[in-house]
Amino acid sequence: MAGIYIHIPFCKQKCYYCDFYSLPGYKHKSKYIDALCKEIDMRKGFFNEQSVDTIYFGGGTPSMLYIEDINRILTTVKRTFNVSDNAEITFEANPEDMGYDFIPELLNIGVNRLSIGIQSFFDDDLLFMNRKHSSDDAVRCVERAASAGFNNISIDLIYGIQGLDIGKWEQNINRALSLPVQHISAYHLTIEPRTVFSHYLKRGIINVTEEEDSLEQFSLLIEKTEEAGFRQYETSNFAKEGFISRHNSSYWKQIPYLGFGPSAHSYSGSERMWNVRSVDEYIESVNKGTIPYTGENITPDMAYNEYVITSLRTMWGIDMNYIKQNFGDNRYTFLVNESSKFIDSRQLAIDNNKLVLTKKGQFIADNIMSDLMII
Ligand SMILES: C[S@@+](CC[C@H](N)C(=O)[O-])C[C@H]1O[C@@H](n2cnc3c(N)ncnc32)[C@H](O)[C@@H]1O
Ligand code: SF4
Repeated sequence: MAGIYIHIPFCKQKCYYCDFYSLPGYKHKSKYIDALCKEIDMRKGFFNEQSVDTIYFGGGTPSMLYIEDINRILTTVKRTFNVSDNAEITFEANPEDMGYDFIPELLNIGVNRLSIGIQSFFDDDLLFMNRKHSSDDAVRCVERAASAGFNNISIDLIYGIQGLDIGKWEQNINRALSLPVQHISAYHLTIEPRTVFSHYLKRGIINVTEEEDSLEQFSLLIEKTEEAGFRQYETSNFAKEGFISRHNSSYWKQIPYLGFGPSAHSYSGSERMWNVRSVDEYIESVNKGTIPYTGENITPDMAYNEYVITSLRTMWGIDMNYIKQNFGDNRYTFLVNESSKFIDSRQLAIDNNKLVLTKKGQFIADNIMSDLMII
């Protein structure tokens, strides 16, 4: 089993919170698609005979591409790798791009999962975050996608932003739950360096949300999604039965993946690689026949830490047998010792030899993780 991520590094405008690598506008778009297809060819053999079970178009803004470009990329992937017949093929889309023709065209070329960035159903919040679409655009986009035949739709929401009180957040959750969606990703705002929000924060133009308010919003999210039949399978991800994202799960389950395009990451099982964060450098290097990446071998401590961090955020938790078998007795004993105080305080629980966060523990997950890691 393996996964593929394809990065589309263009956005119409930059949202004030976002640090994902993208350039405003379409500069070099066709040269970029050529280089991307070249990189895909150059990586032939990376997975040996392993089948590719998930493909994910992320960004940036994949929905800024023409359908012909998307089809060309997908065809190149399928020609180069052994893609399973039932592969999950996800496409990140911005609501303002999803016109009538585009949605069925995506279905026709084999995309079977949409991830739509909504963030909020309040136009004032959308403006505050510098989103290009309105709340109505977002609702229309989901409804069109469902009526065109998409039956695996995810939406993204953001909470913990200035001005979003608990009442507004509840309305956002209710609106999300009233739509024909099978999956919700809801992220607490992170103020990333190099973003407009980070600059605003330094100048005192915006404030960070009080921890108490963040926790109240997170609790409400967990409660309301659960009532509506969604399962929280990861801290920020909620799915109806049968709609857990196979692609995201592969990141948490140490399944190898290849990321194409500038800033994309790859993982082979023993090495991590990340491509250069520049479209220009990327195109130039790929055209000369070299993939511009930096790599590092994963040491046993790094592998242990990554496993602990990613697994703890999921409903499957940390498999203690897996720890013992793959990371040895010393790390296993370290984990048993470090986790005991959190088990006593009921922030962690042991279920079937798996260490999982309790509801109480979810609120301090970062603190727990840092104690369970080997520094
Ligand atoms: C790659 S991004 C966006 C994809 C797509 N271009 C869009 O805007 O919908 C995926 C998601 O990450 C979330 N995100 C990005 N930066 C974030 C931040 N600083 N804090 C919280 N959520 C963030 C947003 O919900 C966003 O939809
Ligand atoms: S959230 Fe999406 S549209 Fe906004 S800047 Fe990030 S990638 Fe671009």
